[in-house]
Amino acid sequence: MELFLDTAEVEEVREIASWGILDGVTTNPSLIKKSGRDFKQVIGEIAELCSGPISAEVTAMDAKGMIEEGLALKKELPENVIIKVPCTAEGLIATKELSSQGIGVNVTLIFNASQALMAAKAGAMYVSPFVGRLDDIGQEGMDLIAQIMTIWREYPEIRTKVLAASIRHPTHVLECLQLGAHTATMPTKIFRQLMKHPLTDSGIERFLSDWAEVENAGNA
Ligand code: G3P
Repeated sequence: MELFLDTAEVEEVREIASWGILDGVTTNPSLIKKSGRDFKQVIGEIAELCSGPISAEVTAMDAKGMIEEGLALKKELPENVIIKVPCTAEGLIATKELSSQGIGVNVTLIFNASQALMAAKAGAMYVSPFVGRLDDIGQEGMDLIAQIMTIWREYPEIRTKVLAASIRHPTHVLECLQLGAHTATMPTKIFRQLMKHPLTDSGIERFLSDWAEVENAGNA
């Protein structure tokens, strides 16, 4: 089971990577735009901080362009960078070609199980179903994860990992993992929330104040 960070903020990657439990990072053009920084520079810096797969997304919409962009990114960026392509017919062609060259591909913007299946058949290393964006339009995003995992269990020869994306809250993460998703990618805020419980905080406060009293009484 893998936990990925969904961000293009290098300092956020540094923080979560320092916890020792970060398995990879996903980015997309919107996150790169939000960072206000150069795409390749950001990906390069992230790839130095986390040794797991770092998804860098292509922006060409035709297979030839996607393949060219993917190969150029693989040439210029560290070894752990994988190529993210959209789930279209052109994306499938690019996935087939890049994966046949031994390049990891993450097929993104998946909103139904048949898209996930097609991407897996094309040789994707990861498929990224978007949970939150389905919730946003009144569909149950988690049903998509359940359906994909049911199919995956029926066909153990499928090696593609299911990377639950568009995660909006900690419960999403736990639900995805309970359904058997291999990976969940989430914003930094959710990583921090996963570690928090008010009873942990109040428990620490109580232990420390009791210990201070023991020390003051000279019993330590
Ligand atoms: O990186 C892809 C995905 O996680 C985006 O999430 O919140 O923009 O729907 P969101």
